[in-house]
Amino acid sequence: MNDPFKENGCMPHRAAVTGWGWYSPTQVLSNHDLEKLVDTNDAWITSRTGIRERRIAAAGETTSSMATIAARQALAEAELQPDELDLIICATTTPDQLIPATACLIQRNLGAHRAGAFDLNTACTGFIYGLATGAQFIQGGGAKRILVVAGETLSRFMNWEDRSTCILFGDGAAAVVLEATTQQSGVLSTVLGSRGDIEQMLTIEAGGCARPASTETIAQKAHCVRMRGNEIFKMAVRNMAQSAQQALAKAGLTTNDIRAVIPHQANERILIATRDAIGISEDRMFMNIDRHGNTGASSIPIALGEFLQSTPVDVGDHLLLVSFGGGLTWGAAVLRWADIPAVKLERAAAQRAKLALIG
Ligand SMILES: CC(C)(COP(=O)(O)OP(=O)(O)OC[C@H]1O[C@@H](n2cnc3c(N)ncnc32)[C@H](O)[C@@H]1OP(=O)(O)O)[C@@H](O)C(=O)NCCC(=O)NCCS
Repeated sequence: MNDPFKENGCMPHRAAVTGWGWYSPTQVLSNHDLEKLVDTNDAWITSRTGIRERRIAAAGETTSSMATIAARQALAEAELQPDELDLIICATTTPDQLIPATACLIQRNLGAHRAGAFDLNTACTGFIYGLATGAQFIQGGGAKRILVVAGETLSRFMNWEDRSTCILFGDGAAAVVLEATTQQSGVLSTVLGSRGDIEQMLTIEAGGCARPASTETIAQKAHCVRMRGNEIFKMAVRNMAQSAQQALAKAGLTTNDIRAVIPHQANERILIATRDAIGISEDRMFMNIDRHGNTGASSIPIALGEFLQSTPVDVGDHLLLVSFGGGLTWGAAVLRWADIPAVKLERAAAQRAKLALIG
């Protein structure tokens, strides 16, 4: 097969993370607050899930408004202007509305005039799918700078009378900038999977064309998350462990090469079981579920942001991201941390070369 990079006289590119940011709403809903809403208690929630509190969006906040704050942070970290973005991919299960895509609202808010924008919905696996898609655009030469953003306002889709779901989820948003580099760093491998035949395990049934909104669907709370927690639990452990191993093998690495695993924060027990299955020591799996709960597609990039804030990462370090969600979907990605100042120098050199061509 012909190599498009060689034909165009270009070096092949990888997609490196050069910026990141996240946003959590200020309003905290603790387990003790939930005791006043449903028949539950702090000890049950903590021992079964590891969650102590979660953040809930304020009345005026939406997925796009939270995602915009996270995106601005990511752009500032990458030292990029919004109009330098080629593409915005927004992973969300809880868009502001059906049309337009939430990505378009973020594009408007940022003033990212040159960027294409689209949404992607693979529930809690959305960030991994977004990362995989963004990396393909960069590796294929279709884009140089991409914002992969994830946002969820799951609190608006909770049945606050259902103790088996409302204790689990929280709101938030996070973003990364993916940028083309000739370094042998960035997204090394991705693995994606799905099982649409067992989709009933985790659903929001109403609000689409199959069950449009009606007084009946509202009375039945069919616009809220429904879940078979026990079955999901087992599927999550199996598929997170398998996809993590597959992504490592694809990258030619083993768990020994991994600096840290940044998993989807679904349930502390799921994460511990996954950690044991892939043979990663406790200190190399990052968890923040106690403070956020499950924030859907945002969960991995929020965790990544908090991890990078607390832990120095060296050039060449490997991070393993792994997730599971409604659909059902799952996926994993291996990142090799790039020399970010060098990527910025590559960017500046490319801009100078472009200006010289025009001049
Ligand atoms: C939801 C989940 C915490 C429930 O924990 P579990 O150990 O599986 O508990 P079960 O569903 O078997 O329920 C055990 C009992 O606790 C009760 N229970 C459920 N929620 C409760 C709550 N919030 N407080 C107190 N009791 C609760 C059940 O009614 C049941 O009572 P019973 O034995 O009298 O019937 C757990 O299954 C889970 O986290 N699953 C994965 C969910 C997930 O991550 N989804 C998103 C994937 S991206």
